[in-house]
Amino acid sequence: MFKRLENCYNTADFRALAKQNIPGPIFHYIDGAADDEKTYFHNTEAFDKCDLVPNVLNPVTNIDTSVEILGKKIDLPIFLSPTALQRLFHHEGERAVGEAAEEFNTYFGISSLATIGIKEIGKKFNCPKMFQLYVHKDKSLNEDMLQKCVEYNFDSLAITVDTIVGGNRERDLRTGFTSPPRLTMGSMLSFALSPKWSMNYLVREKFSLPQLESHLSEGTKIAMSVGDYFTKMLDQELSWKKIEDIKKNWEKPLCLKGIMSVEDAKKAIDVGASAIMVSNHGGRQLDGSRSPFDQLEEIVNAVSGKIEIICDGGIRRGTHVLKALSLGANACSGGRFYLYSLAGAGSSGVKRALSLMNDEIVRDMKLMGCSSISDLNKKNIRYK
Ligand code: LAC
Repeated sequence: MFKRLENCYNTADFRALAKQNIPGPIFHYIDGAADDEKTYFHNTEAFDKCDLVPNVLNPVTNIDTSVEILGKKIDLPIFLSPTALQRLFHHEGERAVGEAAEEFNTYFGISSLATIGIKEIGKKFNCPKMFQLYVHKDKSLNEDMLQKCVEYNFDSLAITVDTIVGGNRERDLRTGFTSPPRLTMGSMLSFALSPKWSMNYLVREKFSLPQLESHLSEGTKIAMSVGDYFTKMLDQELSWKKIEDIKKNWEKPLCLKGIMSVEDAKKAIDVGASAIMVSNHGGRQLDGSRSPFDQLEEIVNAVSGKIEIICDGGIRRGTHVLKALSLGANACSGGRFYLYSLAGAGSSGVKRALSLMNDEIVRDMKLMGCSSISDLNKKNIRYK
């Protein structure tokens, strides 16, 4: 059946809309993950290992869903994780995502591999802005990105620490997906089957990765899979010491994205990070790694109160957010939950996805008998 935005009520609907509206190789880049994609699916399944226990008969006319994270108060307790290449998914790209983040007052994560420059984003959006740094071998590129984030007043920096090599994304190998996209014999048909997307790609602003292009040709002029890009271009010598060095040049809150163990969470405190994103990169890197939600409790038990904890990955429902916050996460974040809606319908898609997520969170909090996020706690959770 033909899918329309107004018939989308959840992430699965937005996924179907994206699949219908964009070329296969691009859809599979968003949707795919590493090896057998077990971790990708488990990230969501993990939320089913426990149930919520409501407390009723509390007045819930006014609900406060705001949380404080990385120096900012955000109204939606799930924010938009930085994700790459957004103008490839829909011509409005980061402009659409930033608009939606602004409307719902949540953190907007901007990738090193964003398709809009730091300067434009910094000037255009007043919502809290997180810049995600891939530490490259090219030091001048790292310095340039950091300096621009300072100049254009970004609110926090998230250094990704789980991409020391590229994950084995077999869907991308099969479809031949690269950045910039390469038209192969195999992919030609899928581009022809998405005429609207293809027309926009040809006539709108040319694809570019403004953060990289004055330093590198790979990913912009030289087509390459994202997996190969990580392996060839990122700094495999990245270490705790190097994080400390970066911190010296960044005064605002620092977050480490991709922390999964208690040991690393403690080291993150030692190097002066304000937050960690408990994340396995949406299952796109180490397949077989544990899900963020499964790891949350032991990390909370070890470091809660000493560093902020963000549960990133697998979130599809408001109840998933409530479960993570009940176990002690300070906030949640996610990528695909808004990327499918961007790919499917641009700015109106992302706004609808955030609006539905917000409605779910408010409704679920009322049903839980909670009027603010601080009312949620471990007593609300039972394991099966
Ligand atoms: C990914 C990167 C770019 O494809 O975040 O997972």
